[in-house]
Amino acid sequence: FVIGVDLGTSAVKTLLIGQDGAVKAEATREYPLFHEKSGWSEQEPEDWVTGTIGALQELTQQSGVQPQDIEGLSFSGQMHGLVLLDADNKPIRRAILWNDTRTTEQCREIERKLGDKLLSVTRNPALEGFTLPKILWVKQHEPATFAKAQQFLLPKDYLRLRLTGASHMDLSDAAGTLLLDVAGKVWSGDVLSAFELPASLCPPLVEASGFVGTLSPEAAAATGLSEETKVFAGGADNACGAIGAGILSPGVTLCSIGTSGVVLTYEADSSADYAGKVHFFNHGKPDAFYAMGVTLAAGYSLSWFRNTFAKGESFEALLSGVDEIAPGSGGLLFTPYLVGERTPHPDATIRGSFIGMDGSHTLTHFARAVMEGITFSLNESIDLFRSAGKTVDTIISIGGGAKNPVWLQMQADVFQANVVALENEQGPGLGAAMLAAVGCGWFANLDACGEVFVKRSRTFTPNKAASDAYAKLFRIYQEVYHKTKSLN
Ligand code: XUL
Repeated sequence: FVIGVDLGTSAVKTLLIGQDGAVKAEATREYPLFHEKSGWSEQEPEDWVTGTIGALQELTQQSGVQPQDIEGLSFSGQMHGLVLLDADNKPIRRAILWNDTRTTEQCREIERKLGDKLLSVTRNPALEGFTLPKILWVKQHEPATFAKAQQFLLPKDYLRLRLTGASHMDLSDAAGTLLLDVAGKVWSGDVLSAFELPASLCPPLVEASGFVGTLSPEAAAATGLSEETKVFAGGADNACGAIGAGILSPGVTLCSIGTSGVVLTYEADSSADYAGKVHFFNHGKPDAFYAMGVTLAAGYSLSWFRNTFAKGESFEALLSGVDEIAPGSGGLLFTPYLVGERTPHPDATIRGSFIGMDGSHTLTHFARAVMEGITFSLNESIDLFRSAGKTVDTIISIGGGAKNPVWLQMQADVFQANVVALENEQGPGLGAAMLAAVGCGWFANLDACGEVFVKRSRTFTPNKAASDAYAKLFRIYQEVYHKTKSLN
């Protein structure tokens, strides 16, 4: 068996997977997010560790599998979050997460100082969610704290450090820091020196599939796993989501709706030029890359909606009946900019809206409008890919958005593409388990592993009438951003 640990934003999910790719057991632990000020989003690194240890204990107890039969373990993690460590490898403040938008000023500074190098070296624009602006924010606003910083890690790298005792960062996650020379696969000396940051702040780089050691005796005792369990670096959640969905060669697109939502395409090399309009990162598959558009508040919009207007209801209850409402939600339109947006509008200040409310609208109309608004936002990323010449005709859908057949059909209708659901879809955790399975030598490479582990189930095809209705609404949706921008 192997274990995939997916350190997400709302919870850590662990999966125990057999050699046939079947899930033997799964265990999850939730942890809080702290929003001390508008635009701030932080987590306590210790909560990740406690949650993961609890989930791993439950995983083995529940399955009855013997610790020595668990050969390997790997990770998938929420991207970009800054964990600063002191000389004893202890976090010196809470982690600042990917959906924290306090760093607009630092992004402008990065653009000013790096100029053309920003895109040519990091291959990405300076966005509030990325790690370098967070480092600069702490340096500027909390100098006494920053003076103690010896190294920075990303969330899953900190978790791995606590389980193995060793610090590393894999390329797919390092790509989201703005400190990596993405094509050259090394920390960028130019970027570090532009901000007077010492190279020692950056951990050693490894491939996502890289072997980094075994569990420490303390971690083995705490989790109930064996000290022999091999640990592989793991990757960014979006890279692992792509691996777990079999996005390992050109031609298929991924749509993942978790807390954030992403549309991602495989890139065989680093030659594509999207002029910084979408993110461009190293894949978890060695030597490959991916391009990606991000909706900051995808599943988060639906959770916010439920917690605010239907507290205590399950998502199933909230969404029951949405299929009885026609595409367009009776004229109600939602934009999901609850925490700003990334693609196609890199704008931390824009906020969401409901427009077109009618006295006859029910809670179910609002729930459907939220689903449609999230899907429209993802369609803007698909539009960008299509305008750059990519063919987007088949999309594998994963995450919360793939659990509901109404939403899968909505994706096919809005995206005007075939949308494929996976059998027993497990999101990025499966990609993490695949990295461990390949690392343990079960398969020659990720492609061979994907053939056994990733199974497609139903394909949803666009319905002409619904697609036409959505195409009209999408044009109105696209205008709402520009018309509401001046509100903030
Ligand atoms: C990607 C991003 C999010 C997080 C979610 O750039 O910020 O998708 O990875 O965990």
